[in-house]
Amino acid sequence: MKLLDNYGRIIKDLRLSVTPRCNLHCLYCHPLGWEQSEPPGTISVEDTRHFLRAMQLLGLESVRFTGGEPLVRKELPEMIAAAQELGIPDIAITTNGLLFKRKARELVAAGLKRINLSMDSVSPEVFKTMTRGGQVEKVWDAIETAWELGMGPVKINAVMIRGMNDGEVIPLASLSLDKPLEVRFLEYMHLDNSNPGLYQQRFIAGAETKARIEAHFGPLEKVDHDPTAPARVYKIPGAVGSLGFINPVAEPFCSKCSRLRLTSDKKIRPCLLTDLEMDIHWAFEAENPVEALVDAILLATDRKPAFGNTLPTLRERVMIGIGG
Ligand code: 5AD
Repeated sequence: MKLLDNYGRIIKDLRLSVTPRCNLHCLYCHPLGWEQSEPPGTISVEDTRHFLRAMQLLGLESVRFTGGEPLVRKELPEMIAAAQELGIPDIAITTNGLLFKRKARELVAAGLKRINLSMDSVSPEVFKTMTRGGQVEKVWDAIETAWELGMGPVKINAVMIRGMNDGEVIPLASLSLDKPLEVRFLEYMHLDNSNPGLYQQRFIAGAETKARIEAHFGPLEKVDHDPTAPARVYKIPGAVGSLGFINPVAEPFCSKCSRLRLTSDKKIRPCLLTDLEMDIHWAFEAENPVEALVDAILLATDRKPAFGNTLPTLRERVMIGIGG
């Protein structure tokens, strides 16, 4: 069974946010004043199992657990185990890594296969400013733990922001020279309700980042990768690791979008960059929740927009509540 939307896109990847809480306050994700509680009605382990089962009946191939910060949700290992028991092939998380060293073994035993870590800078000072207080050493602990557990090339995400980490492009790219890392440069999306003028000043196109890397290291080599994935992947010739460019604003990849998102308050969000959400708590409460959820997913897929809105606009939900 394949889940097809109205624009011929195959929907096979799920982003599941398990909590709106986070233990960092990255300035591009988390506007000050964001509510840090886990409200009643937050998705349960049982709900997660039902939703995953419904998605699986519709052809789900991968699930990525997000937050907030997914590792602050204490039931995360049980949720991963539910995905593993169903036989979902690809189970991943996107995390800031702070709690990873402590929880990694339990997560891998439950079925976790891959992690993406957020690391906007190698400089402790810049990292601290961008995350409003985080320690970059903790991210290194997480990376090393993932390597020790044989989790393969670890992906790290850096959101590029002018005036903040634009001086970090070469140090970040250099990490790929001798380490099995995919260093991914992400264009800053207006998902934080920041002042539009300030946003425009801070935005850096991925092409500019790539040009700066090529000015330093020479032309990058293209690396073959999944064509439906958003990152364009390259390599510094001779490097162990690779470099990814995710350019959702300057070079949107909506036509190959294969995703649905479920928020922790049980709303399907068919497009990251569109406010449209469908509250489906009714389906979780139905007598046969899996059947009802299949219907809800079909309805939401039918409403998946052709394109997201990359312009600075006031968003109903900011990034921390979506989870990437
Ligand atoms: N623009 C682009 N990427 C963002 N992320 C968080 N906020 C933004 C934003 N405004 C990314 C972080 C994190 C992932 C969950 O989403 O890099 O790794």
